[in-house]
Amino acid sequence: MDAILIRQAPAPLRGTVHISGAKNAALPVLCATLLTDGASRLRNVPKLRDIDTTAALLRFLGRDVVVDAPEIRVAEGTCARPEAPYELVKQMRASVMVLGPLLARYGRAKVSLPGGCAIGARPIDQHLKGLEAMGAVIRLERGYVVAEGPNGGGRLRGAEVLFDLPTVTGTENLMMAAALAKGRTTLINCAREPEVEELGRVLNKAGAKVDGAGTDVIHVEGVPPGELGPFDHAIIPDRIEAGTYMIAAAAVQGSDVLIEGAEIHDLDTVVAKMRHAGVQIESEGRAIRVARNGPLSAVPVTTAPHPGFPTDMQAQFLVLMCLARGESMITETVFENRFMHVPELQRMGAQIVLRGNTAVVDGVKALYGASVMATDLRASASLVIAGLVAVDETEVRRVYHIDRGYERIEEKLRGIGARIERVKGRS
Ligand code: EPZ
Repeated sequence: MDAILIRQAPAPLRGTVHISGAKNAALPVLCATLLTDGASRLRNVPKLRDIDTTAALLRFLGRDVVVDAPEIRVAEGTCARPEAPYELVKQMRASVMVLGPLLARYGRAKVSLPGGCAIGARPIDQHLKGLEAMGAVIRLERGYVVAEGPNGGGRLRGAEVLFDLPTVTGTENLMMAAALAKGRTTLINCAREPEVEELGRVLNKAGAKVDGAGTDVIHVEGVPPGELGPFDHAIIPDRIEAGTYMIAAAAVQGSDVLIEGAEIHDLDTVVAKMRHAGVQIESEGRAIRVARNGPLSAVPVTTAPHPGFPTDMQAQFLVLMCLARGESMITETVFENRFMHVPELQRMGAQIVLRGNTAVVDGVKALYGASVMATDLRASASLVIAGLVAVDETEVRRVYHIDRGYERIEEKLRGIGARIERVKGRS
């Protein structure tokens, strides 16, 4: 397995980072290609492991997919076998998002249960509850969800679905199922992430009738299967990638970095908290300038569904607070086990105490390089950021976690002056 070696940045980070397309927008949009038999094209798609896994899944389902980053082309065709195997789903839980499209288009689907992952149990009960409300008959069989449309594989029916809690992929799965259902579907207490809004745009490009994507209530007028056409769409920029590089710039004293191609309004809460901490952030057209000259101040953060502070930015912001003056409280409310970066940061000299779902962070003058272990996507990114400011050298192992969600991270960081390289074969 690869590792990433980071030596302390010789000087502040300076220059421009270009943001790639959003992983968490590209994944549902790729699943949405299953709703139409036509040939679709996605542009501005990041080159990431999760994208390759999804392409492999679409191929397994019978569609011909060409990944030519930043483009992906899904050829005309149908799914001979609407089944998503455990071998693929276990690699990426977002694979569960083929369930809605397959059930809506073919009246049946067999999709492996994703299983838990490092950050939590991550059940899909809300996905299944919504599909059953639309008439699907669902049973669990040997770790698989086996689903059929009403009356032995018929067309889903529009329904009113109230989510017990906002779920991003749950909202997306049911939007796609509703796009081909008979009649009107109303989804209530939806996730409001920009990636959900993006899926709504793409579904409407294909001829669906989706209203309210990005708000907590979404209405979908179903169209007959076969009536959705292909689409050609450029994916929105990745706000979490952008936020990660903003934190990296803020972590290194004296930095001045331009984050190119990011949409600042998708990061309002992150920008507000960083400014409170003493980071200078300015919007410059389709770019965000981040600079930090003075000391960092401790700022409390509690994660929440959008438009709250994103859970996917919690680990990164926690590293920033390790360097701030004073004590900050970082509370994680979305996932039950999303502090695995903490023990690794403690090995680098961070002063953090975990109290339930809150990390109490006392800022220190310096972090010290160490060999640390990546555990999940965003925790890995936080360890790389810590390495940028740590004294001496840091080795982040198991960087396959990073490759799931950050395109060419070492290249992009080297481009703004970081001393960082990838080394092969370190477990
Ligand atoms: C999406 O995951 C993102 N992944 C995650 O990003 C992100 O952290 C998460 O939303 C929250 O913003 C993609 O979009 C591919 P949820 P998702 O369903 O949809 C509970 C990354 O780093 N829940 O919104 O799986 C769940 O356990 C990844 O890029 C149920 O209880 O998250 C969690 O506590 C990590 N039942 C909460 O809801 C359900 O049926 C929010 O989960 C579904 C979810």
